[in-house]
Amino acid sequence: MILKIVKYPEPVLSQPGEPVTEFTNELRKLVDDMFETMYASQGIGLAAPQVGVSKRVTVIDVSQAKDPAKKLIIINPEIIFREGRQYEEEGCLSFPDIREKVVRAAKVRIRAQDLHGKWFEMDGEELLSRAFQHEIDHLDGMLFIFRMSGLKRDLNLRKIRKMQRDGEW
Ligand code: NI
Repeated sequence: MILKIVKYPEPVLSQPGEPVTEFTNELRKLVDDMFETMYASQGIGLAAPQVGVSKRVTVIDVSQAKDPAKKLIIINPEIIFREGRQYEEEGCLSFPDIREKVVRAAKVRIRAQDLHGKWFEMDGEELLSRAFQHEIDHLDGMLFIFRMSGLKRDLNLRKIRKMQRDGEW
């Protein structure tokens, strides 16, 4: 089922998600729906707060459904190691038409749980590292617009306000 993606400034996007404690069929259904929603919007990552669910759940697929091995379910994640720096363009499904360069660590290692509650660690570089950081930010109520330089952030906030006034947001 394709879910509705909420846009900034919907309050759920700025709240830290609740940790998942029960690994139920309901969680499995949420994850399935999140993948379907993400693929329908051509995204590479989607966090539960973006579909209005304030939980620490995110799905990522940097191959956009081309490689099943790239399909990642990440629950209760934390970044346990970061190294280097990258400065590349990012977008976010909760900010349609906004793309901007954001500073991120070049490499990260995450620790997270899978759908069965089993803990695992995983390394990410380049695009995957960026996706990990962007999506885990969502679970902390942090949005990429607040990772931009002050000037770019203000410019994009003005652009959003104008689109809201014009009924395009
Ligand atoms: Ni996002």
